[in-house]
Amino acid sequence: MCGIVGYIGKRRAYDVLIQGLHRLEYRGYDSSGVAMITDPGELNIYKSKGKVSALEHFASNKDISGTIGIAHTRWATHGEPNDINAHPHCSQSGRIALVHNGTIENYTVLKEALSQQGFNFVSQTDTEVVVQLIEYIMDNNHCTLFEAVAEATKRVVGAYAIAVIDRQNPRQIVAARQSSPLVIGIGEGEYFLASDATPIIEYTNKVVYLNDGEIAVIEPDKELKVYDSNAIGKNKIEITELQMSIEQLEKGGYPHFMLKEIFEQPRTLSDCISGRITADGKRVVLSGVIENRSKFLNTNRIIIVACGTSWHAALIGKHLIEEYCRIPVVVEYASEFRYSNPVVNQGDILIALSQSGETADTLAALELAKQRGAFVFGICNVIGSSIPRAPPSGCYIHVGPEIGVASTKAFTGQVTVLAMMALLIGQMKGTVTDQTVEKIATDIRRIPTLIQDILSQSEKIEDLAKIFTYAHNFLYLGRGYNYPSALEGALKLKEISYIHAEGYPAAEMKHGTIALIDNDMPSVVIAIKDNVYDKTVNNIQQVKARGGKVVAIVTEGDTVVRNMADYVIEVPEISECLTPLLTAIPLQLLAYYIAVNKGRDVDQPRNLAKSVTVE
Ligand code: AGP
Ligand code: GLU
Repeated sequence: MCGIVGYIGKRRAYDVLIQGLHRLEYRGYDSSGVAMITDPGELNIYKSKGKVSALEHFASNKDISGTIGIAHTRWATHGEPNDINAHPHCSQSGRIALVHNGTIENYTVLKEALSQQGFNFVSQTDTEVVVQLIEYIMDNNHCTLFEAVAEATKRVVGAYAIAVIDRQNPRQIVAARQSSPLVIGIGEGEYFLASDATPIIEYTNKVVYLNDGEIAVIEPDKELKVYDSNAIGKNKIEITELQMSIEQLEKGGYPHFMLKEIFEQPRTLSDCISGRITADGKRVVLSGVIENRSKFLNTNRIIIVACGTSWHAALIGKHLIEEYCRIPVVVEYASEFRYSNPVVNQGDILIALSQSGETADTLAALELAKQRGAFVFGICNVIGSSIPRAPPSGCYIHVGPEIGVASTKAFTGQVTVLAMMALLIGQMKGTVTDQTVEKIATDIRRIPTLIQDILSQSEKIEDLAKIFTYAHNFLYLGRGYNYPSALEGALKLKEISYIHAEGYPAAEMKHGTIALIDNDMPSVVIAIKDNVYDKTVNNIQQVKARGGKVVAIVTEGDTVVRNMADYVIEVPEISECLTPLLTAIPLQLLAYYIAVNKGRDVDQPRNLAKSVTVE
């Protein structure tokens, strides 16, 4: 949930740290801070509540020298966002500084024990316990920083990615991870450390992903050393060459990452599809599924665990897999699944669906299912993130870095992969005809162009947004494949405009929700030409009869809804199972423009972060 950055080498560390924090700010921005060791061995720590810009202002007249440093941008879990609780945290003697991503489950026990040893705590955080524990171990065992970190990580329970520096040893950073991500960039006589690769890519494309339980000792001009949880050195360290480019990370001229990512979808879905439908359009190729053919052929149930937008994509995946593979699918909120003592049978397949690949609840649900015998398959976007490196198999959605907190291109990428997956498994099982596969595969290939057509209506949607900027509530209604689209449209509006919005199955309106309808409760209704179109038309009439305004998303050429809705946005005709890929676009744009009109921080909405790596 937070962002960690570290640097050691020949540059001024502060410059690398601040730039890195800006690149990671989307992961959480309650507060931020830096710690550098100057050449005479002073440890300077500057930290400030709020965004990185507040930290830069605070440090503008301070000593920011030094070629070694660590930094942190926080999403608070223990202790309110303020200057004291901001990271880096310092040991009692002032010797050691530490930054941490994650949560320490047993911090109260450790805090009590350390207090009895004379340690005084200045913050309310769980993190401070770790740095004091490291100092306690170093002092009592007369050991090195590495040895103290190794021992400390044996005593803490929870999720952590930590980076630690010692002013008495200014040529070394020690880092460790358990359940929270940490990436090391390898430069020429210098090293970079971060929660993901975005702060590193402009300096080097050679990275090492730390694995759970591992500890790294990072010293400039020396080979990187990585130790396992028993402090035994790894002989072979896997170095990954990143393909991500820096411009992918820039906004590309758009005012917000979110708008860039909405408009990127024709290209990102082309990338997502690329190489996965044969040239003759007759077959889908997903190696992760093909390599595990027998698992998919013989399973009696698929469980999909996810959170937020990914959970909405999972609901569409359920429709797709049940329709074309005739395999029962259960979709679970990962946070509910992991604590519900779920029934998991041998032969079950659990799909962990996650853009970031780091969502704590989804990771935990995956581990639980694996322990109970399920075959686990990860579908993620971030290369090398924890989920893809956990289960035996999976596939990436390949839509590139998604920086905006509100997920857009990842959603359409997830639905596209799930659609291809359903066709492939259905064809393997013989539950779908070759003709159907060819028709839908052809439509999947049309998606990028059709989305481009919808994006050309962006000005119309921007004008529509002006009408609803001051709405206080919104209903989003849909049926079948587009009931999850309604849920997703509502979430988009909620999370970036802060307007309350509720997604609902259109038919369910009559069972209570219709009481909300009046002139002040606008409804977005997805009324595309599907097998329940006529029923949805009835629902629109029910809303209109009660004075509710209706924004309808319809299939191009619709003349019926056009004459009853207040506003109409058209999407091209396509196979019904793929319509969520099209109806998502106007709903993303509507939410975006309303939020912009309200002056919201669209890329970093309040209280949110891009990757929820804590519970
Ligand atoms: C979606 O716009 C939100 N950012 C959020 O609901 C997100 O989808 C959820 O936290 C799951 O993230 P993941 O896909 O990275 O696991
Ligand atoms: N649990 C720590 C805190 O609340 C770290 C949170 C984070 O990952 O940002 O400070």
